[in-house]
Order: sequence, then C-alpha cells, then structure tokens
Amino acid sequence: MEDQKPSSSNRRKFLINAAKVAGVGAVGYIYFTGYKNDVSEIAPPPVGKHVLLTQPYLYSIRYNEMKVRWISNLQCLSWVEIGETREPNQKIFSVTDGFINANNRIHEIVLENLKAGQQYFYRVASKQILEFEQEDKITYGETIYSEVFSFTTARQNQTESNWLVLNDIHDTPASFAHLIALNKDEPFDYVFLNGDMFNWIDNEDQLITHLINPCTKVFASQKPMLFQRGNHEIRGNFMWHLKEYFSSQQEQYFTFWSGPVFIIVLDSGEEVVDNGYDQFDTYREKQALWLESVMQSQEYKTARYKVVMMHIPPFYSFNAKGSNHCKKVFSPLFDKYKIDLVISGHTHTYGVHPPVKGQHNYPVIIGGGPVPGKRTLIKVKANREQLYLQMIKDDGSVVGEYTIKAGS
Ligand SMILES: [Fe+2]
Repeated sequence: MEDQKPSSSNRRKFLINAAKVAGVGAVGYIYFTGYKNDVSEIAPPPVGKHVLLTQPYLYSIRYNEMKVRWISNLQCLSWVEIGETREPNQKIFSVTDGFINANNRIHEIVLENLKAGQQYFYRVASKQILEFEQEDKITYGETIYSEVFSFTTARQNQTESNWLVLNDIHDTPASFAHLIALNKDEPFDYVFLNGDMFNWIDNEDQLITHLINPCTKVFASQKPMLFQRGNHEIRGNFMWHLKEYFSSQQEQYFTFWSGPVFIIVLDSGEEVVDNGYDQFDTYREKQALWLESVMQSQEYKTARYKVVMMHIPPFYSFNAKGSNHCKKVFSPLFDKYKIDLVISGHTHTYGVHPPVKGQHNYPVIIGGGPVPGKRTLIKVKANREQLYLQMIKDDGSVVGEYTIKAGS
C-alpha cells in the first residue's frame, strides 16, 4: 500500500477537492460511512488510480442475512451484485431514508431476505464519484469490481455449529493463513477473532494489510469474520475508527446464536490505566448489569450450550486492573447462571483450565500467541449431543480438548 499514499502536494490538492465536495474547510476530510450515516473524520485516502483496497469481507451469521464490507481508495457509489448462479445479476444498495448511501470509501451493504441454507454468488462494485457539479447533477467515473465469491447462509434452526477462534495475532499477518490451515479441509461456519489482532492501531493501512487482506485471502470473502476487540485495539491514534471497519453492533457486547449454542460476547476492555481516557470499570459494570438481564432471559435459559467469548479471561490472567475487574464483575454471574464455557486469549499462554471448586465452576479456555510455538487455533464443534473444543498449536499438535455433554 506504500505506493498509494499521497505525496504532500497531492494530499493538499485532495484536501481542497474534499472540501469542495463535502463543504468543509480543508482541515480534515469528512465523509459519510456506510455505517448508519455516521459522520467520521479520517485521514485522506490515497490519490490516484481507482482501486479496491480490499476484497469484500463478510460478517453476520443469521440464516437470512449477510453483511458485506469493502474499502475503495476513492469516493464511490457502491453496490453488491448477487444471485444463485455464478453470474450474479441482482443489484443491492445500502439505502437510508430513501436515498442510497454513497460518497464514501468504507462500504457496507446488508443483504436481507436471503434463503436459509442457500449458496449465493456475489461481487461488489464501486463507481467513482468525480464531482458534484450542481445540486442535482453528479459526474461519475469508472466502475470497478471485485472477483466473484460465494457464501452459503446458515440453515434455519440449525442444530450443529462449527466455528474457529483466533486471538492475539499482534500484527503478525502471516499467522492468519498458517493457523487457519491447521483446520485442514474441515467445514466451519465462521471465524471469531477474539481480540488483540494488533499491538496498537495507527491508520487504515494497518487494518487492511495486517488483518482484512490476510483474512480475505484465506476465508473472509466466503465465511463471516466476527471481531471482538482486545485491550490492544484500545491503543493508538486510529482506535476510535475501528467500529467503522469491523462492527455493525450498536454496542461492543452482544449475543448471537450459533446453531445450538447461545454465545455471549463481552468487551473486557483495557488492562492498564495510564492512557488518560480509561472509563472501563464503569463500562464493565454496565455490561455486568446487561449480562445478568441476558442470563435471566428465556433465550438463555433454554439454550443447550452457553458460551462466553471475551478477550481477557476471568482467571489465569495478570494481576492487573482490567483482569482483576473482569474477575470481580463477571465471574460471579458466570457461576450463578451456570455458563458452560469461557473462551479467551490475552495472556499469550495457551491452556485448557477445567472448573475448580470454590474458584470458577466453569472451564476457562485460553488461546495462545503471538510467536511461533505459542500460537493456537481453537476449533469448536457443537451438535445436539455435545460441544467439543479442540486447541491446536501452530505445529499441528493438539494441546487441549474439552467436551461438554448436552444437559450435563
Ligand atoms: Fe490482550
């Protein structure tokens, strides 16, 4: 991506053009993201040839929906072409309040009303917006396309689920291909990124070259990529923009069904407190209130398996503020409402820790990383009879297993 960075003179020209388009002073670049019309201020994109900076990446595991994102280098009007054959021909736009979301670079299209268990073929398209000439006239430039990819929606009331977990990649993008390859050709529904994909976040190029592109090369254009931040994604000057690229959630903590498994995703927040903007104790306490209400729901009570995904584990972590607070506010609820499993990372020391009476009545699984010899792939397979978790080290050896029988 280095050759696409603007020179200072190009950057100056771009800012002038940006100000003309967006109607703002040339002190920054304001545009509308595809994400619920949020207005964001962000570094100017590269100037030059119109290109897609990423292939499309998927997120969402609902049976009747898929969400697609991609990034172009120039402002565009974008859409997805989708169909059930290898020549997709139905155009889907992102529409809010009667008009198509456009004049942006980070594109999000939600494909709705899909058939359950159906294979779809799709490609994404971005038409460059050259100029807003008059109030009702826009000049468009070249339209560029991605390759054609396919995905298959989940089946309705699916009774099985297979997912993969990666954690603590820490800016080592080659690890994605290496670790996913350990799954061999076994089927999986999605990949859950369980935090600390980066050391800290400086700019968009880092998000693209260290995460999005390594993942689309391996799986993310065809299988959903769900991402929960770790404490290292709360570091660096670009961290406030992370949600624009990876999340469609209103909150960083949420629940979803994965076949027979009810999954609760918690945001364990920051570990240390010397950055001047730490409000995470309050944030975790707010989550704990939400968590208890979730655990009192009918959905939770009737779930065959109850799994928590969170970056910082409630036990076996560091004697640090964030870890201790996670243990204090979340673990009593995990015990009280009898969760089946916690899957975490953070410590860089992989381990499968069974329940310990008087401490935690649930198993704690911790994936390792980020250096060779410590990296892991976690595989979870659940069906009506059991949930089976396997942890594979980066040399291919199995270093941990855990089985939960349904109803136990
Ligand atoms: Fe961490």
